[in-house]
Amino acid sequence: MKKHAIVAGNWKMYKTPTEGHDFVKDFVNLMLNIEDMEVIFCPPFSALFNIDVVLKETPYKLGAQNCHWKNEGALTGEVSVSMLKNCGVGYVIVGHSERRHIFNETDKWINKKVKAVLIGGLKPILCIGETLDQRKSNETKDVLFYQLKEDLNGVEKLEDVVIAYEPVWAIGTGETATTEQVSKAHKWVRDILLDLYSQDIAKDTSIIYGGSVKPENAGELFEIKDVNGFLIGGASLKIDSFKEIILTVNKKLKV
Ligand code: 13P
Repeated sequence: MKKHAIVAGNWKMYKTPTEGHDFVKDFVNLMLNIEDMEVIFCPPFSALFNIDVVLKETPYKLGAQNCHWKNEGALTGEVSVSMLKNCGVGYVIVGHSERRHIFNETDKWINKKVKAVLIGGLKPILCIGETLDQRKSNETKDVLFYQLKEDLNGVEKLEDVVIAYEPVWAIGTGETATTEQVSKAHKWVRDILLDLYSQDIAKDTSIIYGGSVKPENAGELFEIKDVNGFLIGGASLKIDSFKEIILTVNKKLKV
């Protein structure tokens, strides 16, 4: 039985500050039972402050989608960890596949970001995952190993790190990985953590899945042994679908 789950909504570049504020206000008013769960809203930077105002005194958490590793500087367009912290942020998504593939983020940068988030006292949600070509050529495990090794280089403890396995080909495509593919990949991630760290760290680290998660598949995906929750894109933008996923996970936690 799993004792704890993380469900994070990555809004990507959707919702204005006003829309985000109203969405979260309506969501909080649903008074969902999110006992034993961490539910995190990750809006665009521009909506963080507005949403933090609504989330104060609620069990919901706030996350950002990116950060720079420096504290301040002449870095036009960038936002630092301390700036995010001041907006009430508790988590930062790092190394999302859209950042890796559209904005050419390297594992070296991602590693610097992971460390900056931890030094700043926040929790990184580190995204890893293979492309379709890599999967087709049976490189998935090697890709996961490489990303974890590089992105966590110099990080000694993982108690504040969440790993999100997001196969690139399943993001925003409607094509969810099969339960067998997810199960295998999450087990590989645990085996890699065992290799790089220790048995306790491998066992205790939260590994969440992302890629076309929706109310219809959340139940069977959450039943997979090594899945500790979800990072959700499209389905986190609508109250009904995000709520359904949370309720499904919550129900499974009680079984
Ligand atoms: P979708 O749920 O829209 O496939 O997006 C997944 C994702 O990228 C979450 O970070």
